[in-house]
Amino acid sequence: MQIARTLLDLKQLRQDIAGSVGFVPTMGYLHDGHLSLVRAARAENDRVAVSIFVNPTQFGPHEDLDAYPRDLERDLALLERERVDLVFAPHESQMYPEGYATYVEVTGPLAQRLEGASRPGHFRGVATVVCKLFNLVQPTRAYFGQKDAQQVLVIQKMVQDLNMNVQVVVLPTLREPDGLAMSSRNTYLQPNEREAALVLNRSLMKAREMYVSGERDAERIRRAMRDLIEAEPLARIDYVSVANATDLSELDTIGQDAAGKRILISLAVRIGRTRLIDNTVIE
Ligand code: PAJ
Repeated sequence: MQIARTLLDLKQLRQDIAGSVGFVPTMGYLHDGHLSLVRAARAENDRVAVSIFVNPTQFGPHEDLDAYPRDLERDLALLERERVDLVFAPHESQMYPEGYATYVEVTGPLAQRLEGASRPGHFRGVATVVCKLFNLVQPTRAYFGQKDAQQVLVIQKMVQDLNMNVQVVVLPTLREPDGLAMSSRNTYLQPNEREAALVLNRSLMKAREMYVSGERDAERIRRAMRDLIEAEPLARIDYVSVANATDLSELDTIGQDAAGKRILISLAVRIGRTRLIDNTVIE
């Protein structure tokens, strides 16, 4: 496994690679969710590249950039075991040198709703870094998790609009045995918060149950999810959404205005000081 810490290293190592390249961009502190993407990339491509970069431009001024967990040595050991060919782990100054001035922004409601409303500038940072990483790594396929459903939509839109020559592959959310979606941020949770965090998945399951039992009033589903979360003293709701999975517009009635379409049920909840997101899709 080759490790590039600079743009020059990466350029040289990339030149030596022939065949298809599967690419998994990450911010490190890897868990099985990340590794599921790496495994898919390994299975579907001649070579596998992974980036580890805690991207400062996607964090707001009062967010957890400095606290974000990092353990490069452990990450490298995990990736070695997955037979990854190339790891790009640049320093911030490589990606954003003095005088850096160019950003990619997906405009319109897609990037402004949900996470975009709660985290202004977040998707501008994500689109910018992913665009840069695609230019540097030149992947055949790039792998993303459905855990970050809106991120997937934003990146697909960017790839389409900017005619990028990469195939975006989306894979399901991996969960802990008790249902908590895997996330690097779960390490912030104290034991009592870890227990309280189960309310995210429980409220998604509740929404699903209601849908399966025939409920088609989206507001009643949102209200039931909110009630369940509000009963958990450590939880504070950021948003609860039942939306069209293509454009993220909030639904009134499932089935009528969204006949035959996918529904994205998603939420962001603070457990203590940790902000967690999760979602489920109804086909
Ligand atoms: P990060 O949060 O490290 O996630 C990297 C990739 O792993 C993303 O595509 C994310 O959706 C996926 N992932 C995270 N948790 C997952 C889970 N439980 N199951 C399956 N996949 C999961 O997302 C980012 O980094 C950044 O925004 C990035 C795209 C790297 C740009 O900086």
